[in-house]
Amino acid sequence: MVKIVRKKVLNPTVTLLEVEAPLIAKKAHAGQFIIFRLDEYGERVPLTIADYDREKGTVTIIFQRVGLSTELLADLNEGDTILDFVGPLGMPTEIPEGAKRVCVIGGGVGCAIAYPQAKTLHAEGVSVDVIAGFRSKDIVILEEEFQAASDNFYLMTDDGTYGEKGLVTNKLQELIDGGVKYDCVIAIGPIPMMKFVCKTTEPYGLKTLVSLNPLMIDGTGMCGCCRVTVGGKVRFACVDGPDFDGHQVDFDELMNRNAVYREREAEEKERHTC
Ligand code: FES
Repeated sequence: MVKIVRKKVLNPTVTLLEVEAPLIAKKAHAGQFIIFRLDEYGERVPLTIADYDREKGTVTIIFQRVGLSTELLADLNEGDTILDFVGPLGMPTEIPEGAKRVCVIGGGVGCAIAYPQAKTLHAEGVSVDVIAGFRSKDIVILEEEFQAASDNFYLMTDDGTYGEKGLVTNKLQELIDGGVKYDCVIAIGPIPMMKFVCKTTEPYGLKTLVSLNPLMIDGTGMCGCCRVTVGGKVRFACVDGPDFDGHQVDFDELMNRNAVYREREAEEKERHTC
């Protein structure tokens, strides 16, 4: 059982929780995730670790209200507890050795996962460009944090209400066309965004890592729920990932698999609110 020590509502649908979890904080690295379960009847939900503080013994998660469990989690407050909080799970992100300049791209709530990547690389002396994309100004998160964790920060909105109007792929293409040479791109966000970032970088042979978010149950490689196809082979995101070479990922399959329970999830949410 872990206790919530800080809560911050980042935008109408995205919440930050910092919880006391010293053992996880001690071992966590960028790219890894936790699985939480609110109570004994709850589902097990994976969330990427957005930050950790080894000194304080805390772990931060940032998540969107997308289903019943995340709705209930977002309604908790400082001092409340979460029954299960297991981690760190998955493999830490592996940047190509000797990388000098990396572009970290976040889309929407995926920025919460992109942030620890940028922060870690920046702290290691890697030159970091961040491109963060949002639908509009009202859902922008972590702007100051990204500014502090990057050498160049580009904020994009689809509707142009803040930052520059356009997609993250527009900015990436502009930078590549302008002669910027990256050793690696890290893209984290909605599946279509990751897919199109990979399509942008592929012609240049530019290594692109993506963080996949398939459905998960056990998070330990036993159930097979999180299977994804990478380079024509079945891989389990919970133990082999969640980061993979984006040019090898079958994004369409992932999108279809993630949609399987959408109706059931909506029904359950409806049932709970009735
Ligand atoms: Fe069960 Fe990955 S979540 S095998």
